[in-house]
Amino acid sequence: MGNIGNIINYKIISYMVTISVMNQKGGVGKSTSTRNIATYFSMQGYKTLMIDIDAQANLSQISNIPDNVENTIVRAFKGLMPSIYNVSDNLFIIPSSLSFAGIENEIKDVEDQEIFIYNLVTKVSKDYDVCFIDCPPAINIITINALAASQWILIPMEASKLAFNGLEMMLKVISMVRGGLNPDLSILGAFFNKFKEKTVVARDVLAQMKEKGIDLALFNTRIRQFEDFKKAEMINQSIFEYAGSSLSAADFKNLSNEIIAKLKENNSLKK
Ligand SMILES: Nc1ncnc2c1ncn2[C@@H]1O[C@H](COP(=O)(O)OP(=O)(O)OP(=O)(O)O)[C@@H](O)[C@H]1O
Ligand SMILES: [Mg+2]
Repeated sequence: MGNIGNIINYKIISYMVTISVMNQKGGVGKSTSTRNIATYFSMQGYKTLMIDIDAQANLSQISNIPDNVENTIVRAFKGLMPSIYNVSDNLFIIPSSLSFAGIENEIKDVEDQEIFIYNLVTKVSKDYDVCFIDCPPAINIITINALAASQWILIPMEASKLAFNGLEMMLKVISMVRGGLNPDLSILGAFFNKFKEKTVVARDVLAQMKEKGIDLALFNTRIRQFEDFKKAEMINQSIFEYAGSSLSAADFKNLSNEIIAKLKENNSLKK
């Protein structure tokens, strides 16, 4: 009996953990956060895969992937294997490209149109410890594909008065997916990005959340607004390469450590 227990445990912990970085609101920092959190994981020795499922291909660009790259995520939606590119030590990416735009139309009559990413993730799950999926700013069949393939959702939020636009709808869609396609899906947590310490908006947002009965776990670390992030992205570097000992890097280091601790607490991350 002891053996059986061991075998089951081994199987579970040898599969990678998949995290969708999601918020239907545009420009809240999904791609920036994916790039920097994934880089931190790779620096800690986790073999890390990023998947770009946004036709804007921002994550691919800021990970130094050329515009005209071949064998992008488009292939996964045709049932084919895309190429995986090396970004830095331990860090890999399946890129997107502008040609991904319009894929929704192409798959709209396809049976099982929700599980293209699930099939892709299943194929690579023995090769990586962790996978981050950078979602587009929309709730569409592409985002549903990411949710069907993930154990966790990480939600960057801007501490602004409009932070709630769409949040309730998003939470509804998440619980719908959990009720059907993917019962293993949970929200890992949300965090504030582009945070300005001198404003009280964050407190307003928290009060609003309480008022609306939105129960969303928030990470303690807030990513502050720093020009560093834009400068790093201009030259396709992570914040750790661009300014490793800066406050901006420290914010992502602290947030990533909180994420690692929470995943370990839930036996979702090995090592
Ligand atoms: N903490 C921050 N401080 C300053 N600028 C930031 C910060 N986070 C992100 N940005 C900048 O804000 C812009 C939008 O960020 P990003 O592309 O990561 O958002 P997104 O949610 O992925 O957007 P989209 O919804 O279009 O995919 C980028 O120019 C990025 O450099
Ligand atoms: Mg983005």
